[in-house]
Amino acid sequence: MSTRKADPAADYLPGFGNHHATEAVPGALPIGRNSPQRAPFGLYPEQLSGTAFTAPRAENRRSWLYRLRPTAQHPAFTRYEGAPHLKSAPFDAVPPSPNRLRWDPLPWPDQLTDWVDGLVTYGGNGHVGEQNGVGIHCYAATADMERAFFSADGELLIVPQEGALAITTEMGRIDVAPLQIALIPRGLRFRIALPDGRARGYVLENYGALFRLPDLGPIGANGLANPRDFETPVAAFEDSNAPCEVVQKFQGGLWTTRLDHSPFDVVAWHGNLAPCRYDLTRFNAINTVSFDHPDPSIFTVLTSPSDTPGTANCDFVIFPPRWMVAEDTFRPPWFHRNVMSEFMGLITGAYDAKEGGGFVPGGASLHNQMNGHGPDRATFEKASSAELKPVKIDGTMAFMFETRLVVRPTEWASRSPTVQLDYDDVWSGFQKAKLP
Ligand SMILES: [Fe+2]
Repeated sequence: MSTRKADPAADYLPGFGNHHATEAVPGALPIGRNSPQRAPFGLYPEQLSGTAFTAPRAENRRSWLYRLRPTAQHPAFTRYEGAPHLKSAPFDAVPPSPNRLRWDPLPWPDQLTDWVDGLVTYGGNGHVGEQNGVGIHCYAATADMERAFFSADGELLIVPQEGALAITTEMGRIDVAPLQIALIPRGLRFRIALPDGRARGYVLENYGALFRLPDLGPIGANGLANPRDFETPVAAFEDSNAPCEVVQKFQGGLWTTRLDHSPFDVVAWHGNLAPCRYDLTRFNAINTVSFDHPDPSIFTVLTSPSDTPGTANCDFVIFPPRWMVAEDTFRPPWFHRNVMSEFMGLITGAYDAKEGGGFVPGGASLHNQMNGHGPDRATFEKASSAELKPVKIDGTMAFMFETRLVVRPTEWASRSPTVQLDYDDVWSGFQKAKLP
């Protein structure tokens, strides 16, 4: 097998959703035509759509791929029996619980397990067949993938928590480590190797509208996640006739087939639908310089809108290192009940609303629609009497998948030994306010 890629000096192209053109062999990209009668070198042109053909231009996402063989050249898919904990919405195996839930980190598997078989679904919402809602998964993997995988059900936002991921995709190679994220388009085939031997993290499978950068409103033209910091790989391909299994997730089911060649044979591509990565430490956090705790929407990295303006199918929000300077303010998140539902994870460090422990890197929590949550008692007591000098919150990165629909846990997430049965206790023992 040989692997070749475009300009060895440039691994990535900057910009979110930008139109790129990249070729791993000079002259492979047709000029002035998407689908010429004969493409250079006899490559097969193929369009990959991320939106309907007729989506408005500002929303329209698609790329043209030029490959050694057409994707269509494959035997029939048959049912795949692995990945026993990978599920899709609608999640109706157990009734949705109003209870606040928190989980210890996903344990490492006993046997060698690749990224696909290591996926465990915690819950989600919407309907995979109706293209709305999300699936929320975690993964714990201990073996390189020897096969390719894709989700026909949604784009995948991958949030590594421990261990780097070397992701070979049809459109190039993406390397990510904790504090970075990867975004893989719906339908794009990929393979994940584990340079550190094992890896754990979180995945948001977005059945709905594609993730995009949020509008900035009065913030202005700059701030939050800057477009140029999203990095799309240059074209790279494998010229291999070794057999390769391809597993796909389709309407919640898993299917497998076997190619007589590598599926990673795209020699050149152009367009604005492509995988990318982003370094969360480049996020330009905005915060108050006067008083009050701002809503966490100021930390939105990416948003998947719904049909209701301002009400996301899903927001990906982070809580990065930042200075806290607010005066006469309870600085951590106050108590709240939210019409949206909140699934949180922790990549590293400690989260400032949970000083009492229990929310650890690799763990997760779920606070569903209209159910009260906020600082634990330890945080409340510390923050309500702290001297309010400027303080840097450092060495931490928590995140939230915030979604308009209730997150319905899977049976695994409801009954796993990782469920912290005493989570409610973090809000016990608050003293009653004293009236004059
Ligand atoms: Fe919350």
